[in-house]
Formats: sequence, structure tokens, C-alpha cells
Amino acid sequence: MGFHRYFTAHGNKKNQRERREKAHHRRTLAYGNALSVKKHGGAPIVDRRHHQRAGHSRTHRRHALHVHHALGAGACARNVDTVSTTRLKQVLNSGVQNLSRMLAFLGTTTVSSSRRSRVQQFCGHLSGSRVSVFASGFLSRDPSQLQRSRHERVNGTLVRAYARQRLALTRLCVTSTPAQTSTVGTLDEHKAPPAEKQRVRIQRLFEEAAHFLQPANSFVVIKGWVRTARDQKQFAFVQVNDGSNVSGIQVVVDSSVPSFDKVASLATGCSIAVSGYVRKSPGAKQPIEVQATSVELLGPVASNYPLQKKRHSFEFLRTIAHLRPRTNSFAAVARVRSALAAATHAFFQSRGFIYLHSPIITASDCEGAGEMFRVTTLPPGATEEQADFFGQRASLTVSGQLSAEAYACAMGDVYTFGPTFRAENSNTKRHLAEFWMIEPEMAFASRDDAMKNAEEYVKHGVSFLLETRMEDLQFFDQFIEKGLVRKLEQVRDLAFARVSYTEAIEILSKATEKFEFTPEWGSDLQTEHERYLAERHFQRPVFVFNYPACIKAFYMRVNDTEPTTDGRRTVAAFDLLVPGIGELIGGSQREERYDVLCSRMQELGLSEEQYWWYLDLRRYGTVPHAGYGLGFERYVQFCTGMENIRDVIPFPRYPGHCEF
Ligand code: 4AD
Ligand code: MG
Repeated sequence: MGFHRYFTAHGNKKNQRERREKAHHRRTLAYGNALSVKKHGGAPIVDRRHHQRAGHSRTHRRHALHVHHALGAGACARNVDTVSTTRLKQVLNSGVQNLSRMLAFLGTTTVSSSRRSRVQQFCGHLSGSRVSVFASGFLSRDPSQLQRSRHERVNGTLVRAYARQRLALTRLCVTSTPAQTSTVGTLDEHKAPPAEKQRVRIQRLFEEAAHFLQPANSFVVIKGWVRTARDQKQFAFVQVNDGSNVSGIQVVVDSSVPSFDKVASLATGCSIAVSGYVRKSPGAKQPIEVQATSVELLGPVASNYPLQKKRHSFEFLRTIAHLRPRTNSFAAVARVRSALAAATHAFFQSRGFIYLHSPIITASDCEGAGEMFRVTTLPPGATEEQADFFGQRASLTVSGQLSAEAYACAMGDVYTFGPTFRAENSNTKRHLAEFWMIEPEMAFASRDDAMKNAEEYVKHGVSFLLETRMEDLQFFDQFIEKGLVRKLEQVRDLAFARVSYTEAIEILSKATEKFEFTPEWGSDLQTEHERYLAERHFQRPVFVFNYPACIKAFYMRVNDTEPTTDGRRTVAAFDLLVPGIGELIGGSQREERYDVLCSRMQELGLSEEQYWWYLDLRRYGTVPHAGYGLGFERYVQFCTGMENIRDVIPFPRYPGHCEF
């Protein structure tokens, strides 16, 4: 008796036999891989009289019955959105061959059947075929949320189920009925482990623990590196980490496992493959563990493995940057970094920005600070630049901004996200010789538009981390920066402060704090000033805008509303200063007036000839435009609390260091 029959029977309360069967199948299904019956139990939720009145056939009634039943998910039929019911019927009728269409349907269907819960569930069978379908997911409030894709097992094969728009699928099961027998499998059927299983990432075991705790799904294969192994005569416990989460998972090996005697002596760092059953852990430390049926040593570890169980200093770990991702801190940094990169693309893409790959080798010095690494094929000592590879002096770029401006002045909104290089000899905790920068550039935009976009972007990344990487954030909160999660929640929730440079200098002059450098109008803010403003005075991220022209780059728009007497001239620049870091973002409205730009360049001794193409943008259909650059490593530092920028990039480059 299968899944399909169960639902048909469910509505017919009069029939004793069917009721007995129902009880039986409730038991069976509770262990099956299709759905949790408890959630769907209880009173029938369909108003059958509607179908009788409408003169529907008996078959039709039955079909409608389980569709409604499924959609109700414990709620009352009156709340069921009828349009969605029709859509679901289309899905169910679309035939199993058309799986991708079905996924698409499910992915875009929005059903709000229950106000109390955002979890939505569908189940039913495809009419005319012996196929049952069960899907559940979350209705997301934010339509711009990242598309999540997951692997789902459908008829024993992994498929990718995409969550689109408002319904984020968390599970989708399609099960075929070979005969009139079980659709979803029984306990017996799943006793024998499948012959071959694909590796499951450990993080997924925790995320979908309820799924993996069902006997039908509990047999898994995990592969990773041993953190610790210990032995208690009858049992050995192995802590395995595969890089997907902080905790890893505990593997319990009992003496019946063939390699039992070798397991306890597995050294920290060796790689293993474990097959076994996921089960609730009796220990308080972890919700689930794996009861091994086999443990295979893939790669042993030499006795001089430098990572041991104790905590190592970050300075020491920098000397083994190739192994440090195997520590909790560096793996968590890598996951946060990856999530922030994904959030960056999601943010700009969802707002229609075009992702631009700006060149890495360039002949222009965007910041005009002369901190460029030379790119040359000339032999050492040669000076003839015409004979060089590019026929002119070439360098690694310090910024993609100038290229981004060219594209913004054609496409509206663009952004770059790539590596940038600075040969500044600053051995600080916030400077690298190679770092990544995100540079949005917006046409028809002012300084204030750019600041608004920057605030939204920073908040978007932070709230994405709070949603998706809480385990990592809690790790940093516990071991790296106390109160980090609270800080990030405030960044997400509170408006950033805004203050002009002139006001900022006044605030700093009045401060009781003893600064190493006296704050003075006309000189650049030092890190100590920036941190005072963000940490002490405003206690939140703060935009400082309208800096003196004399300390800023040539491309920034000269303010004409501000005093223009030479010494006090300002430009429409802004920096975003954040607690713990100082400058996270530097940006401005760009000088779009040809004449003003030329005279600024002359003042700064820049050759118009060299920037001919940049000047062209002002000759042909010039528009007000603005943009900014965010230092990605400083963003990762801010979100993790990591003190040194060298510890938030995989292989840091800084003066005297190019190892790995
Ligand atoms: O303020 P910067 O120099 O601005 C620009 O390069 C502009 N062209 C950006 C634009 O408007 N499109 O650099 C931008 C950000 C800084 O705020 C800082 O976060 C980061 O880049 N940054 C560095 N990060 C690590 N190491 C360094 N050496 C950095 N220099 C700048
Ligand atoms: Mg700057």
C-alpha cells in the first residue's frame, strides 16, 4: 500500500479498514523519505461539498482532495490560495519526464496557506503516473534574497533544485511507485546500506539534521581531516572536519568496525572517509553524530605535522599559510570571505549593476600617488621604455575606477571586483600590497547617491552573514572580538552617521583625547582620528564628506557651493570610517566638467595626453557620476574582528613577503 493510497484513504473516515491502514502507513511514512505525516495528520481540511456541488467526478474529487490536503499543511482550507492550488495541479499533471519544468513551477509558486508559519509544504502525486512528490520550503520576505541552490535526491539521482523568487525550497522528493506497493520505502527496505553513496558535506548534515535523522536518509559518507581521535576500549571517537563548518562532526566507531584497532591512533591531520549512520548524539556537545560502519584512511600524516591540538599564534600560522586553512579561525575567515563575495555580487546584480572586469595591467595611475608595481620584460638596468613589452611604461593597477567610469558613462551602473596592487611601504595591520577592491560607479548620480548605495551595500553584506554564517560569527564573537554579533546587528539596524570634513576637524579639535597628530584643516585624517570619530564620538560607521581638494585625487568633483578661496577649496569626496578599522571606503562624485578637470590635472602635473581617453568621456555626452572603492579585506576584518589584515586574505603579500 503506497503513499498515493494513503491520501485517498485519508478523507474516507467511515471505512474502518482504511483507517487501520492509515494508522499503519502513518507509522511507515514517518520513517519514509517523503514527508512527516504528523504535520499532515489531524482533521481533513477539504470542503468536499464544494466538489460535490460542482458535480466533479469521483476521481476528480479524490485528486483535488489530496492537493488541498497537502496545501493545507495543518491550516484550514479557507486560507488556501486557489490560484496556487491550480498551479500545483498543473505541476502534478505535468508528468515526471518534465522534472525541470516541475521544479520551475514549484520554485515560483507562492502559496500562503498558513499565516502562522513561513514553512510551506506541498505533496501529492502526479496523476496518471505512479509518482509522488513532496516539497517544502520557506517563503522569503526579501525577493532580492540570493538564489539558493541545493542538491536534492530524486529517484536516487542527485538533481539541483533551485529556489526562485519567493519560495526557497528546502526539500523536494519525487518518488516513483514500482508497483502498487510502497512509494516511500519502509524501514525494511532501508536497513541495508546503499552500495555506493556520494559524499555529504558536514555542514549539510547539521542544516538538514531532521532529514538525515530519518532512517531512510541516515546512511551517509563523509570525508575530511581528523582533528582528534580518542579511544574508550569499546568505542573510539574521531572528530572530523571537512571545512564546511566550525564544529566538524563526531564519528563514533565501535569495536565491530573492521578497522577499529587503528582508529584510535589516527593522527591529527590525516584524511579519512567514513561511512555510517547519522543519529542523535547522546552527548550534550553536539546534536548529531555519525555511527561509523567503516573508516578508511585516505592520507596518513607525517610525524612532523606542524598543526597540533593546541592553539597556535597567528604570527606562527602566517609562516605556514598553506596549512592554516585547516585551523578553525582561518577556515571561518575563508567561509565569511566567500559569503561576503557572494553577497557583493547579489547586491549589485539585484540592482541592475553590470559586473566589469577592469584590466590588471595598466598605464594610468588612478590615484596619482605613484605607488605602482612596474610590469616589464626589460632586463635589469635597461631604461628604454619603447623597447619594453607594451612599448610604454606599464604597471599593476591601483584601482579599476577609470575603466569603470568609461563603462558607467555608457551603461549607467557598473561595478568592478578584483585585485588591486599598491607598492606603498606601509607595514600596518590594514595595508596589503595586493588586496581586492569593489568599485561601483554610477552615472547620473551624486556624492549623496553614492553614499546611500555604499551604506546599503555594507548593510546587505552584514545582514547576509547574520542570516547565513551565524556559526562562524559566533566563533569570532567567542574567540576573536567579544560582542561582534551585537556590533554587526547594530550596523545592520542603525543609520550610519554623516559629517563634513570641516565639522569632523572641529569635533577632533575639541576632543579631550591626546592624538599623536594634531587634527588640522587641510591635512588628511590619520587612523587615530578616524577611529576616534567612529568608535568614540559617533559609535557607529560614519561618512566624512567634502575633503580639502589639496589632499584628494584629481578626478574628484570640485564643490562650487563651498568656499573656493584656494586654501579652503573642497571636493565632493567621502570616506566611510568604521569602528576598529578606520577607512573602509573611499569615494566621490567625479569631475564631469571638461575645463575644471583639465585645470585640476594641470595643477597636479598630470599629462592630458596620457589621460586622453579619460578626458574624452567629458567631451562626448558627459554626465554627473559618482562611485567608491571598498577594500574587501578591511570589510572581512570588520565582519570577523580579525585584527591583522594579513590574516583575512589566503596568501598575504606585504613588504618583504611573497611566500606561497
Ligand atoms: O581610498 P582609495 O585609495 O580609493 C580608490 O582607490 C578609489 N579609486 C576608489 C573609487 O572611488 N573607485 O581605496 C579604496 C579603499 C580604501 O578605503 C581601503 O578600504 C582600501 O581600498 N585600501 C586598501 N586595503 C588594503 N591595503 C591597502 N594598501 C589599501 N589601500 C586602500
Ligand atoms: Mg582613501
